[in-house]
Amino acid sequence: MSTLMVPSVPPTPRDDAKHLHKAFKGFGCDTLAVINILAYRNASQRPLLEHEYKLKYSQDLSKRLSSELSGNLKKAVLLWMPEPARRDAIVVREAFSTNIDLKAVTEVLCSRTPSQLLHLKQVYLALFGVYLEQDIQSQTSGDHEKLLLAYLSIPRSEGPEFDRTMAENDAQALYKAGEKRWGTDEGTFRRIFSERSRAHMAAVGSVYKHMYGNTLKKAIKSETSGYFGEALMTIIQCAENPAKYFAKVLRKAMKGLGTDDKTLIRVIVTRAEIDMQYIKVEYRNKYGKSLNDDVHSETSGHYRSFLLTLLGPDQ
Ligand SMILES: *[C@@H]1O[C@H](CO)[C@@H](O)[C@H](O)[C@H]1NC(C)=O
Repeated sequence: MSTLMVPSVPPTPRDDAKHLHKAFKGFGCDTLAVINILAYRNASQRPLLEHEYKLKYSQDLSKRLSSELSGNLKKAVLLWMPEPARRDAIVVREAFSTNIDLKAVTEVLCSRTPSQLLHLKQVYLALFGVYLEQDIQSQTSGDHEKLLLAYLSIPRSEGPEFDRTMAENDAQALYKAGEKRWGTDEGTFRRIFSERSRAHMAAVGSVYKHMYGNTLKKAIKSETSGYFGEALMTIIQCAENPAKYFAKVLRKAMKGLGTDDKTLIRVIVTRAEIDMQYIKVEYRNKYGKSLNDDVHSETSGHYRSFLLTLLGPDQ
């Protein structure tokens, strides 16, 4: 569920383009005016606005935004503008090239649905002229690499159906491959986690707990490590409750000294139009504070206003 506050009768893309252009002109940019337009336009309105701007002013809106804005606000707004698959492609490519960030890669690839991943792969190739799989091969290694490649290539159902007996067999296979033995059989984890649907994995998680007392997540933590473990954890958490997973990622980005703004921006921007309403609920339940309050205390200025606008009002 989206938290975006779109006006019921939004201005036309043409008026928006005009107002943006006006905000850019003159001495300094009227940043507040820019935010007050862009943060209130949804995924179907933003492309129209970009198109209109280009027609009218013969310039890419993103290029103009890039030269008018700065710092974290600029990063957030530029990530906000593209449609979701393009945005994911940009995030992953950047995490593979300029600032290597395999955590971000793992988060994006292991939290998206099969159809989102399919779209991402197409856009990635179109944008960068290289297959996503090629970048994975050159930038990751071992079980992490094998899991990501399998996860991207194997079709999985997106429906709610699952087979109880098969879930029990998988739970047992994972137990045997992990907690029951000395050492871990990573191949079994890889196979099951890349082949099974979310509904099925959620069932495996609950069967596992029922049969062995321990949670599958605890087993993953004790049996695997590094980015491979991180990928498995992301897959199981997103199978069980994606909003809870993202609430945790956000909390980690803000906890302690300093703020991981890159993660904060990525998660808020990419989830605002998907499940932010639920993430906010999970955040409050788990941490006893509102996500809005934490974002408010970790950020400042126009950057803060922009993120808080995407989060929508505190319930
Ligand atoms: C965006 O908002 C408009 C008008 O408020 C609405 O008609 C449209 O369905 C929305 N698009 C998305 C992707 O939410």
